[in-house]
Amino acid sequence: MARDKAKRPADKKKAKAKAKEDDVVLRSHEWFGKAGMDGFHHRSWMKNQGLPHHLFDGRPVIGICNTWSELTPCNAHFRLLAERVKRGVYEAGGFPLEFPVMSLGETLMRPSTMMFRNLASMDVEESIRANPIDGVVLLVGCDKTTPALVMGAASCDLPTIVVSGGPMLNGRFRGESIGSGTHVWKFVEAVKRGDMTNADFQEAEACMSRSPGHCMTMGTASTMASMMEAVGLALPSNAAIPAADSRRNTLAHMAGRRAVDMVREDLRMSKILTRHAFENAVRTNGAIGGSTNAVVHLMAIAGRIGIKLKLEDWDELGRDVPCLVNLMPSGQYLMEDFYYAGGLPVVLKELGEAGILHRRAKTANGQSIWKNVKDAVCYERDVIHAYDTPFKTHGGICVLRGNLAPGGAVIKPSAASPELMQHRGRAVVFEDIDDYKARIDNPKLDIDESCVMVMKNCGPKGYPGFSEVGNMALPAKLLKKGVTDMVRVSDARMSGTAYGTVVLHTAPEAAVGGPLALVRDGDMIELDVANRRLHLDVSEEVLEERRASWTAPEVPERGYWRMYHEHVMQADTGCDFDFLVGGSGAPVPRESH
Ligand code: FES
Repeated sequence: MARDKAKRPADKKKAKAKAKEDDVVLRSHEWFGKAGMDGFHHRSWMKNQGLPHHLFDGRPVIGICNTWSELTPCNAHFRLLAERVKRGVYEAGGFPLEFPVMSLGETLMRPSTMMFRNLASMDVEESIRANPIDGVVLLVGCDKTTPALVMGAASCDLPTIVVSGGPMLNGRFRGESIGSGTHVWKFVEAVKRGDMTNADFQEAEACMSRSPGHCMTMGTASTMASMMEAVGLALPSNAAIPAADSRRNTLAHMAGRRAVDMVREDLRMSKILTRHAFENAVRTNGAIGGSTNAVVHLMAIAGRIGIKLKLEDWDELGRDVPCLVNLMPSGQYLMEDFYYAGGLPVVLKELGEAGILHRRAKTANGQSIWKNVKDAVCYERDVIHAYDTPFKTHGGICVLRGNLAPGGAVIKPSAASPELMQHRGRAVVFEDIDDYKARIDNPKLDIDESCVMVMKNCGPKGYPGFSEVGNMALPAKLLKKGVTDMVRVSDARMSGTAYGTVVLHTAPEAAVGGPLALVRDGDMIELDVANRRLHLDVSEEVLEERRASWTAPEVPERGYWRMYHEHVMQADTGCDFDFLVGGSGAPVPRESH
């Protein structure tokens, strides 16, 4: 008797997968699958691009959400990357359609890209929902493009995969590796000290940025690319492959293929972005000495997908995580070195073996995170240290509280000076960034290395836009004396490429009347990182008197700036707009014609 082939295990598995595929209802069918005038409308105009009729036969439509822009140099190679994604989508039987969204170039946009992160996320969310898209590939690179796109996509919750553009090759200047951002601060200080000429300073510009890609230090872009790999939204090795390396294009190709299968498997973002996934990311951020910006971005992403991630989680989960990677700004090497040493899979494997990785967390390639990384090999231990012999014993973000930051503040110990982690000093106060710029190098400024530099009005509403100015450069006269670090406190953010004993994100911010607004020159401030304390040594009665005379800054009159000001939330909850928290899924909108 002939054997019933359908009962053989391999066929059973295939049959089950096929049945699952058949269950998936494609959104795009509501546009391209229609007969009559509607179908004609939706297909005919698309055909002006030379698209053959068979592409409208019910195959998954993959939207490639592109942040390409010549005004965002870190993402300027994304047209090629999108073409590689398309190859993968076609190969897997999908139908790729690329679309642009607002791009956020860190180096040019004013007052701050952070001010436009939420706006870009709205663009992404509405672009996805309004169009015949079944799954999404997000092309991200420069700092804010990653959180903006992931936030917007999370509110739609379609199957989604992230492809980062990759870091630039190592900067090289006169035989030395130089890192994006990190060396700009160093060079600026050298010029101020008189150790570098202006001509050399200018020559270093082209030496630092010599290939496509984003900042190649462990700044915010590389941190967020690592976060995407750690939460499972990106394929293994997404974080570190240089933009100029052919394997970046291969990764884009494979992500395109995978996006099609994710639609067939109905592997939505909410199935990947679980609480465990975020916990893995927070710990990974500690292990890579990642940017403090990850705190606000991950909390905002979590809010969109319905996961409660609190400021305290960063301290509780990351408190004992050592920093394993020896990368600038905390260390010596750059992302290119990180990739050759094994990249993020090695770090995740170390965390898994140390028992602090949720091994079963699902990732975009359909495997558990542990399956992805368990065979990772480290090729250079000076770049990626083992968990038991870390690069620095403390990598995580510390969350400080006290009367100066009742809503919390953060500090990155791996970038700080150990001898300043407990410090009491006299406040030297700058009312805002303009005041700081006007007075910092005045030889008459009453400041010495024991002082605490304080800057106000640079929080989410203050600047406006929560700029990266918290790592105020030290006064020239102290740099000339050889001072390399001082305690700095502000409601601003700090570039992920920066370093120093810098307390950031004090909440509530000065511009809404937070205690930072009440600090005056000469007040004593105590920083005690071990006890998570940030204290302004001024009596409550005196503070009350100062509060009574405080006046709020002007509110912008109109437009997006007005909307931003009215709805942006404070740093301790991720700075999303109050009305954007959560998601609406991606139901097919009604036609209006
Ligand atoms: Fe784009 Fe640094 S400026 S990543």
